Amino acid sequence: MSTTATLATLSDDHRFADPNWWRQASVYQIYPRSFSDSNGDGLGDIKGITAKVPYLQSLAIDAVWLSPFYPSALADGGYDVDDYRDVDPKLGTLDDFDEMAAALHAAGIKLIADIVPNHSSDRHEWFREALASPKGSPARDRYIFRDGKGPNGEFPPSDWDSVFGGSAWERITEPDGTPGQWYMHIFAKEQPDLNWANREIRDDFLKTLRFWSDRGVDGFRVDVAHALVKDLTEPLLSKLELSAANTGTDGFDDGSHPFWDRDEVHEVYAEWREVFNEYNPPRTAVAEAWVHATRRPRYASPQGLGQAFNFDLLQADFDAEEFKEIITRNLAEAAATGASSTWVFSNHDVVRHATRYGLPKGSKGKHPKGQDGKTWLLAGGPKEELDVELGERRARAATLLMLAVPGSAYLYQGEELGLQEVAEIPESERQDPSFFRNRGVEVGRDGCRVPLPWAAEGSSFGFGDGGAHLPQPAWFSKYAVEVQDGVEGSTLEMYRTALKLRRELQTAEELEWIETGNPEVLHFSRPGGWQSVTNFGETAVDLPAGTVLVSSAPLEDGRLPGNTTAWLR
Ligand code: NOJ
Repeated sequence: MSTTATLATLSDDHRFADPNWWRQASVYQIYPRSFSDSNGDGLGDIKGITAKVPYLQSLAIDAVWLSPFYPSALADGGYDVDDYRDVDPKLGTLDDFDEMAAALHAAGIKLIADIVPNHSSDRHEWFREALASPKGSPARDRYIFRDGKGPNGEFPPSDWDSVFGGSAWERITEPDGTPGQWYMHIFAKEQPDLNWANREIRDDFLKTLRFWSDRGVDGFRVDVAHALVKDLTEPLLSKLELSAANTGTDGFDDGSHPFWDRDEVHEVYAEWREVFNEYNPPRTAVAEAWVHATRRPRYASPQGLGQAFNFDLLQADFDAEEFKEIITRNLAEAAATGASSTWVFSNHDVVRHATRYGLPKGSKGKHPKGQDGKTWLLAGGPKEELDVELGERRARAATLLMLAVPGSAYLYQGEELGLQEVAEIPESERQDPSFFRNRGVEVGRDGCRVPLPWAAEGSSFGFGDGGAHLPQPAWFSKYAVEVQDGVEGSTLEMYRTALKLRRELQTAEELEWIETGNPEVLHFSRPGGWQSVTNFGETAVDLPAGTVLVSSAPLEDGRLPGNTTAWLR
């Protein structure tokens, strides 16, 4: 398919109206509470984002994805939603939201909202009603309540663990004050799982999708898209039985798990698709689905959400062979479904890639672990193992490569500054439930959520006038936007140049590998003579003939040094 064949020649207005705008978009993720604080309360907010629209425009991104901005007690950074159709008063108002959407649109930037359908917060009116209502009531049926085991129901219905550690079940106190039923929460106990077998839940989310689409939201990022539909028919299998039943090499590959990746979940997304298609251009969606690779296309199908994150590069080492295999496989997979591929190195859940690539090989992945099973970055962990300079250099090379590959590139705020993970957050200031529920094993995700440095000096490095809700280290100063702005060779300027070029150069979603004869060098071309070469090794190599458009590090006598990418034409 060459749906984007004419993209490069389209004017900005036409690109914006193109129903296929998302296929090769650059999407910049904003974690609102850590982006920019307009009122000095230490928490980033909606007006803060609006004020930074010129900055976003200067990045030449196509869309912004906003992590949750809904009313929330922040038990899980906003992924515990009190009300799906409002803005957190700590972040602003619906009017502020409208103003932000208008400013983004006026700047030619689309808006993607995070939607969190698997669970609400325990402060959502539905959950309060469930707690106040008797067992078996319609209010309880919006969630997953079960009687406990044991003579007095004092044991949880199963031994399942929550993703953040501890049991996946929490016991409630009944309205009459007696210990009562248990409810399921795959994540924190403040995030009760909704019952998607209940028609009311399904209808209410359709209403939510229309609510935000009517307000100008162009697409949705769907949180834990693979967990909504569950089969909790008794008897529930134990953890041990579940792992014995898991025949896939990388998670269940047959949809038989009681709550992850069941086939029936796609009935939900088929209904969502109908809503998306009510709009012009149709609203888009991308699934966050940590599923077996063979099952990902179902989420990305045009009859479903249309796109699914692939976290393969994010979990890979900085390794030519691994990168090539992942890119080849995912492009083929996307072509087979009609979706375009997605690429991502960093987000609000993982250690920043500038840090990951500075860690010893093998400590890759979502939560890089040391030999002892502990996270490398655990307070006081083996920091001497971290090579900051190498990490940053490789991160730039990897990103430049990614931006040349067909598909949508998802970027996480701060990576354009080359920001490192903040390891030195004192326990007393940590916020992530995965740290508290798993103390001593998981360091949690706060290190990539520290408010951005905009200025080299001053209160919270220009984030706002009233400090920052997570402590910023002194070394943030040298990464500040102000320090890199207009400075040739800075990470920020590399991102700007590459993103602008990408917009001009991208045409058809095609990539052709060019044999280099060197296993550490990847070379490919895109239609129109645009080429990308990455040297994953340490020794400089010759570049093919052509004009160098941008490189992730200075060339050495016209040669491509190690850990570097260059684009040519
Ligand atoms: C995935 C989100 O990215 C993560 O931040 C959150 O904790 C879980 N889903 C639960 O909502």
